[in-house]
Amino acid sequence: MTPKTFKIKSFGCQMNVYDGERMAELLTEQGMSAVDEGADAELVVLNTCHIREKAAEKAYSDVGRLRREDGSKPLIALAGCVAQAEGAEAQRRSPMIDIVVGPQAYHRLPQMVAEATRGARPVDTDLPPLSKFGAFPLRRRANPSAFLTVQEGCDKFCTYCVVPYTRGAEISRPWSDIVDEAQALVDAGAREIVLLGQNVNAWEHEDRGLADLIRALARIDGLERIRYTTSHPVNMSDDLIAAHGEVKKLMPYLHLPVQSGSNRILKAMNRSHTADSYLATIEKVRSARPDIALSGDFIVGFPGESEEDFEATLQIVDAVRYASAYSFKYSARPGTPAASMEDQIPREVMDDRLQRLQSRINEHRLAFNRSAVGIETEVLIERSGRHDGQMIGRSPWLQSVHVDTSAAPGEIVDVTLVAAGPNSMTGAVRQEVAA
Ligand code: 5AD
Ligand code: SF4
Repeated sequence: MTPKTFKIKSFGCQMNVYDGERMAELLTEQGMSAVDEGADAELVVLNTCHIREKAAEKAYSDVGRLRREDGSKPLIALAGCVAQAEGAEAQRRSPMIDIVVGPQAYHRLPQMVAEATRGARPVDTDLPPLSKFGAFPLRRRANPSAFLTVQEGCDKFCTYCVVPYTRGAEISRPWSDIVDEAQALVDAGAREIVLLGQNVNAWEHEDRGLADLIRALARIDGLERIRYTTSHPVNMSDDLIAAHGEVKKLMPYLHLPVQSGSNRILKAMNRSHTADSYLATIEKVRSARPDIALSGDFIVGFPGESEEDFEATLQIVDAVRYASAYSFKYSARPGTPAASMEDQIPREVMDDRLQRLQSRINEHRLAFNRSAVGIETEVLIERSGRHDGQMIGRSPWLQSVHVDTSAAPGEIVDVTLVAAGPNSMTGAVRQEVAA
């Protein structure tokens, strides 16, 4: 019997969140309905992430936990990057898995569910670029801040990273598909759109780049805010930087991973930029948009990283003064060049460096938040807070802001930022003073 209810559990990056939403729309169109609890669902889709350690082990233990107390189990689909990396092996390791579907094959999910219902064990890890997008139905529901994938895959082959293997080659969705989807999201209630791609700033279509796309989206009435993530430093074009100074709806926030501050390590990572070229890019971005909030990703303990290399990373953190940043311990990914490099770094050294890096990043984040106190700005309300009458939204700089207001999700309120913490701000609604 075809399942009537489903639950999609997405792990990892924002693109998985987007894919999860689209799979939900596809299954809903087939007449199934979403339920909150995985245990109750007749179909569970585990939308997995493979970027760091023990991803596959975690996925298998998540699968195991889907067995119900009476010994029965839902129909189980393993999706996402672990599915892509493991393929049919997944079903050998865990016979509970009925379906294995890679990130570019989601358009086939309903058909695979039908096959699995008849007792087959379908596996699809082909990487046909863009096919899935054509199958997804029109967007009818959207959060105030909605994701929109415009680009997928990666050709950069950083030596530590699995993405080029799990998401395939860099591919851009066509211009008009994106504009249509953005319009549908706005019609469905989105006020902000976050353009997604593994290398979003490498997006291109018929000689037009991401800056052209942003300018076109900015003309959509009712769309108030545009963001994009994640960018690669080498694709940070002058035109895109200029857009940060010109396009009012483009929010003053840029996630631009540098990974390390040491040129020796950047070279071993195959990053194709140096610390200086990265800083020069940051300089240009800041002259286009002086108040921009900068964010980044860091890896500590890449093979061969010396204390001196690590100190260069701390220096670049100080030079940029990030408003926020993500940092990770290097994790050897099977099949990537760095996994077989000599001089893998001991765990204790990595732990120590990660802690030092994170406390440095936290200092800058708190300083950034404190420097915003007193600013009059706008907050896009996204959800209710913990206390009665409290709502939570985002400032233009992506800070989480707590506001006492009767405004509903999707409304934009004028606030003064009155207090700063490490992870959030407090905003006070500005009252219009009668003249
Ligand atoms: N080990 C640790 N961190 C990694 N990242 C990607 N691959 C690895 C790995 N093998 C981090 C990078 C990237 C972010 C999404 O995840 O910092 O920018
Ligand atoms: Fe991975 Fe590097 Fe591509 Fe980013 S640019 S997805 S880190 S290979």
